[in-house]
Amino acid sequence: MLKYEDLYSDKLFERIIDRSNDGINVVDEKGILIYLNQISADYSNNMAEDMVGKHISEFYPDAVLLKVLENKHAFLDKKIHYVGTKKYVVSSYPIYVGNEFKGAFSVFKDIQEMDDLNRKVKYLELHLSLNRPEDKFSSVIGNSGSLKDVLVKAKRTVGSLAGPRHSIIIGESGTGKTMIANLIFKYAKEVGVIDNDAPFIEINCGQFTNTDIAAMEIFGSEEGAYTGSKQKKGLFEQANGGILFLDEAHALDNYQTMLLKAVESGRIRRIGGSREIPVDVIIIAASTKNLKDEMLPELYQRLAQYELYIPSLKERSIEERKNLFNHFIEKYINVVEELHGLRYNVVFTKDAEAAILNANYPRNIRQFRDVVNFSIDAAAPLISDIGDEKEINTVIDMEHLPFEIGEETSSIVISKRKDIIDGHAKDLIKGYRDAGYGPRKISKMLSEEGYDIEYYKVAYYLKK
Ligand SMILES: Nc1ncnc2c1ncn2[C@@H]1O[C@H](COP(=O)(O)OP(=O)(O)O)[C@@H](O)[C@H]1O
Ligand SMILES: [Mg+2]
Repeated sequence: MLKYEDLYSDKLFERIIDRSNDGINVVDEKGILIYLNQISADYSNNMAEDMVGKHISEFYPDAVLLKVLENKHAFLDKKIHYVGTKKYVVSSYPIYVGNEFKGAFSVFKDIQEMDDLNRKVKYLELHLSLNRPEDKFSSVIGNSGSLKDVLVKAKRTVGSLAGPRHSIIIGESGTGKTMIANLIFKYAKEVGVIDNDAPFIEINCGQFTNTDIAAMEIFGSEEGAYTGSKQKKGLFEQANGGILFLDEAHALDNYQTMLLKAVESGRIRRIGGSREIPVDVIIIAASTKNLKDEMLPELYQRLAQYELYIPSLKERSIEERKNLFNHFIEKYINVVEELHGLRYNVVFTKDAEAAILNANYPRNIRQFRDVVNFSIDAAAPLISDIGDEKEINTVIDMEHLPFEIGEETSSIVISKRKDIIDGHAKDLIKGYRDAGYGPRKISKMLSEEGYDIEYYKVAYYLKK
C-alpha cells in the first residue's frame, strides 16, 4: 500500500512534479537553481541537470524570482512574460526555513494554449459577424429600392404620433423579417416609445409540438396547474414594456383565443392561475403565410394594424442583387482584414458573378449570403498559407460556387433543389445538344424531365 512517506523515496515527489502542467524553479538566496522540473527545462530548451547549480538569470534573464530575492515577499504576477516567442505568467514565493530567508521558488504557466484559444474564439466571433443582421435602417440593402416603403412603414408602426401599434410582417423565409423586427425594436427605443432596457422577446410559434406546453411557455403557469408544474413567468409577461416577436405566427393554433384576450384586455392570466396580470406589450407577428387566412379574424384585425410585405429575392431588381452581392463580399473582406491584419482583395470572374446573381434562391437573402460566403471560403487561401503577407488576392470562379454543375457532392447549399446535373441529366443534355438544341431550349426540355437547371448552367456544363 502506498503511504505518504513513500513519496520521499525514489524521488517520487519530483517525478510527480515533472508531470505537472506548470513549470517550477527553486533557487537559493543567491539565485542559483537548486531544483527545476521537466516543464521548466523544456521551456528553456535545456537539460535540467545542466541547469542546476547555475544562476537563474542565465536561463530566465528577467526572472521574477530575482525580485523575490531582493524584496523577500511573494510576487503573484498577473503580467505576461516572454521567453523568445513563448508566453507565460508566473507567481514567485520566498522560502523561509524557520525565520531565515533561504531562497525562492516560482510556478509558471505557459499561456500559449490560452492564447491560441483566444484567437480561435475571436475567429468564431468574427465569423459569426458575417451572418449578423444589419442593425441600422441605413445599412439595409434596398432601403431606397424594394424596401423603401416597407422601412418607412416599419418606423411608423412604433413611431407614429398616436402611439405604437401591433404589426404583421409577411415574407418568405430569409427575406429579412427578423432583421426588420429588430430594427423596429431599436427604433422604438430611439424614439422613446419603450425604455432603453426594454425587452425583445422572440417566440417561434412553430417550435412547440404540444399546445399545453406552448400555452405555459407563453402565458406562464401557477404552481400545480399541471402535475409538477411550477410558478413561472410566461414570455408574454417577460416582454412587458417591450416587444413580443411572434415568429411563424401561423402556427399559433389553439392559443389564438388566449392571445386575443390578452391583446384585447391588456391582461394575461397564467395557466392554472386566477390573478389577472396587466401587460403592456407591442406585438410583431411574422409569417411566411398570409395571416389573414391563418388567424382568427378578430386576432388578425388586432395585430394587422400595420402589415409589412417583404418582397422575395426574386422580386428584387438585378441592381439590388448586385448591391447585396457587394455588401456580403465587403463584410467578408472586413472580417478577414480585422482577423489577419492584411489587405484582402476579392474578385469574382464574370461567369461566377453572373451565376450567383442569376441563380434561384428559395431561401432568399439568407441563402444568397451563404452562397457568397461559401464561394469565397472555397477559393480563399488557408490560414497556414498566408504567412506574413500584407495583401492577398482571391479569385472566385465557377468551380468555387456551391452549386457547381455536375458535382453532386459539392452542392452543399442549394442541395434541396433538383438543380444538380446528375448522370441522367448529363445524358439528356448531351442528347439534346447532339440533336442541335441550344442551352435555353435544353433548359426548358430538362424542366419537363423534372430538372430545374438554368440555361447558363447548361451552357457552362457544355463548355466544360
Ligand atoms: N435587405 C437586406 N440587407 C442586408 N442583409 C439582409 C437584408 N435582408 C436580409 N438580410 C440578411 O439575411 C439574413 C436573413 O434575414 P432574416 O431576418 O433572418 O430573415 P427571415 O426572418 O425573414 O427568415 C440575415 O442575416 C440578414 O442580415
Ligand atoms: Mg426569421
